[in-house]
Amino acid sequence: MSSFRDDLLAGQVALVTGGGSGICKGIARALMAHGADVIITSRSAERLADAAAELATETGRRCIPAAADVRDAAAIGAVAQRAVDELGRLDVLINGAAGNFLAPAATLSSNAFRTVLEIDTVGTFNASRAAFDAWMKRNGGTIINVSATLHYTGVPLQAHAGAAKAAIDALTRHLAFEWGPSGIRVNAIAPGPIGDTEGMKRLLPPAMSEKLRKRIPLQRFGTVDEIGEATLFLASEAARYVTGAVLVVDGGAWMIGSPMDMLG
Ligand code: HXC
Ligand code: NAP
Repeated sequence: MSSFRDDLLAGQVALVTGGGSGICKGIARALMAHGADVIITSRSAERLADAAAELATETGRRCIPAAADVRDAAAIGAVAQRAVDELGRLDVLINGAAGNFLAPAATLSSNAFRTVLEIDTVGTFNASRAAFDAWMKRNGGTIINVSATLHYTGVPLQAHAGAAKAAIDALTRHLAFEWGPSGIRVNAIAPGPIGDTEGMKRLLPPAMSEKLRKRIPLQRFGTVDEIGEATLFLASEAARYVTGAVLVVDGGAWMIGSPMDMLG
């Protein structure tokens, strides 16, 4: 049950990177359930096709699956152009594609570090430029980057992802400044631990799950729908004077410090 009107984003078009799974599939669902048509992109054409069919059936909106690697600027440029050509416009960009794993910096290879930076940070830049060129520089729009809170405290085994997300937060502010005069708002959402996601499976050993949950001020993990609703706020007219902001949606979790400390 949404807190927002069904027609909040009526007539709008969104591009969601990483939209075939997890949190960003949930964001695509939320945008579509509130009137937007959507194009979702990631590397796996099969997963995207399944997700697009499911979301379209569920919401009655159009959802185009378009496979691309966000590290490939030309490929993501073509996806943004498809949004304009086939759906008529491109009002909202969600930068959600990301890669992560637990690894100590002491043994992390240079290529492993670079890979995460390239997917998360360069991918966010590539898709932002693609949306800017294809539509937003002439018509305005809104960009929402999916960040994290890892770099607020420095979480062990996450130097690569924390560095990537810190750079995304910086990019959020730089682009908000440079593109504000073109009518483009650029913000970020920093989710905390969100239940039943690939990120949680990869990062939180099951034995730690209950310990962490009890220490979170709101005493539970977040849901994909809650990230969807926070995204709706930032995408909507209600946030028309909000740009360069990072909205933390984590039940207060970042304030307890690194969950990895509980391993000791
Ligand atoms: C150490 C690793 C590793 C691991 C890969 N590498 N996995 N190093 N520990 N577990 C190294 C490889 O050895 C290689 O370095 C380099 O990383 C690139 O690996 P590839 O497999 O070639 O990369 P690629 O095929 O591009 O895949 C990217 C990936 C993969 C990140 C490694 O896991 C992926 O595709 N993930 C997408 C889905 C995902 O991660 N979702 C979770 C997002 S959650 P060498 O030196 O050997 O060449 C998230 C949460 C954030 O982001 C915050 C939560 C709180
Ligand atoms: P997820 O389902 O694995 O989402 C990541 C998506 O990125 C996948 O759909 C993946 O699809 C896509 N992707 C990966 N590499 C790509 C590439 N090179 N090009 C294009 N797409 C690529 O994980 P999630 O847990 O829902 O995470 C979603 C977002 O939320 C991420 O930005 C993550 O950092 C953030 N986040 C998650 C949590 C959490 O608790 N889960 C907490 C904080 C932040 P393909 O494999 O098909 O390419």
